[in-house]
Amino acid sequence: MSQYIDAIQSIKKNKPVLVFDYSDREGETDIVYPARKITMKDIKRLRKDAGGLICVAIPSDAAERMNLLYASEILEKAGYNFKNKLPYDERSSFSIWVNHKDTYTGITDKDRSLTARKISESINKSKKDDFKFEEEFRSPGHVPILRAAKNLVKDRKGQTELSIALAKEADIQPAMVLSEMLGENGDALPKEKAKKYASKNNIPFLEGKEIVEKYNK
Ligand code: 5RP
Ligand code: CA
Repeated sequence: MSQYIDAIQSIKKNKPVLVFDYSDREGETDIVYPARKITMKDIKRLRKDAGGLICVAIPSDAAERMNLLYASEILEKAGYNFKNKLPYDERSSFSIWVNHKDTYTGITDKDRSLTARKISESINKSKKDDFKFEEEFRSPGHVPILRAAKNLVKDRKGQTELSIALAKEADIQPAMVLSEMLGENGDALPKEKAKKYASKNNIPFLEGKEIVEKYNK
């Protein structure tokens, strides 16, 4: 089976996939899981085997319904005037950082998995008029929400959009938990090492360009 078909099957089964963006972008590989059923054990793998920030990506329309602005917009409205741009993209996809109301500190594997699953549930719940995101979550919290660009990979090609494009292809609730793989020396784990991890653990490995190609077909 091709890695792409394999990856879509994995996602349908709530299993992880590895997504490398581009050598001339971040040059990072993220471990990516669907948020809808993510477990404490999955968060432990992200913490131990990936080691980057554990975030939840959601599509732009869902973020809009829940009034989840980009962090940069919120900061600008608050009067901050950061001038330093990202070296690898036009803008960051960070929105706000949250904990679900039923968490304690918010950082434990149990708490972060609950928050991620609840973010996923909110995507449908937010279609109802009486849903209030602020009543379900606290902020600031320990799970950063990433807001994908409106036209996904047509607008931006970060792991935020790449992972939501995969969720759409797999026809699952489009909320994806992801974390960057870091190496022993603290740098991004080299692509070849990420590939070895993928084959050792039987996890499909995809590159940004393959996802964009399939998604645009
Ligand atoms: C949050 C990040 C990561 O790089 C993550 O992969 C999402 O960002 P992007 O969409 O820019 O690739 O910055 O830890
Ligand atoms: Ca990234």
